[in-house]
Amino acid sequence: MKNVPKRQPELADPILDAIYRDAALSLAKDIDIFYQDRAEEIKMLSSHGNISKLVEVGCGDGGLAYHVARRLDKTEVIAEDVDPIAISEAKKRFSAPNLTYQVGSVYSLSKRHKDLDRVVVKDSFHHFDDLRSALKQINSSLKHEGGLIGWDLGRDRFYNELCIKNPDFEKLATEIQEKRRKSREKAIEFLESLGPKGNAIMSYQAAYTYKEMKRTLTNTGFDVLMIGPDEKRGYGLFAVKVKPGTKSDILLMPCL
Ligand SMILES: C[S@@+](CC[C@H](N)C(=O)[O-])C[C@H]1O[C@@H](n2cnc3c(N)ncnc32)[C@H](O)[C@@H]1O
Repeated sequence: MKNVPKRQPELADPILDAIYRDAALSLAKDIDIFYQDRAEEIKMLSSHGNISKLVEVGCGDGGLAYHVARRLDKTEVIAEDVDPIAISEAKKRFSAPNLTYQVGSVYSLSKRHKDLDRVVVKDSFHHFDDLRSALKQINSSLKHEGGLIGWDLGRDRFYNELCIKNPDFEKLATEIQEKRRKSREKAIEFLESLGPKGNAIMSYQAAYTYKEMKRTLTNTGFDVLMIGPDEKRGYGLFAVKVKPGTKSDILLMPCL
């Protein structure tokens, strides 16, 4: 991949992890409506056939998993995140009879699950350093003709749009990278001084492009059935695990 920036470093660093998590958890109240929209899309993409088990990977505060569990009340919904503090916060915030939480990394997903009907990943791809391994794990955890439903920021947007609107973004992004390379303490101090803007810059910088995403999905055995209409703005996608030469009969619905 050309010009791939570093992914989010926070999980390797407890202080950066905490800065990022606090920002994400405090934002969560304001984005409930987005969770609800996404949950409706998941419901539409699950209206065909019997969806008995769904896992959300990288569930953060649990808001999306909760709205999904309420809409698909016959489905076992398991919300996972690699960060134990995020999981304990999620348990405090959202509960439903068919929703359980568990600490776990995408890189070991197929050790825990083999028979999933749906895997959901919202805004977590840009945290995965090894996208190919993550997608392979997701593929192995899905049933034949199970589906991955995902959304994320598009790196194309960072370069093409955000930098135009905010001329200082590109400069700050370079500064963050340099500070990270030289000194962890300086990087932390600098990110703290930037507040939410720093998180936005880091996230867009770490995101994959539409092309990278689509190619890696194809190379890991997925059939990309649908992708958001505007690849420059980030994307929604629905990909299905199919054996080569098999035709999927999954009903398609718009997911962005
Ligand atoms: C930007 S947050 C998104 C949270 C939530 N899905 C949302 O939309 O608000 C990314 C999440 O991915 C989680 N994450 C990062 N690496 C992971 C991994 N290897 N396996 C599982 N979750 C991971 C982080 O802990 C974090 O909660």
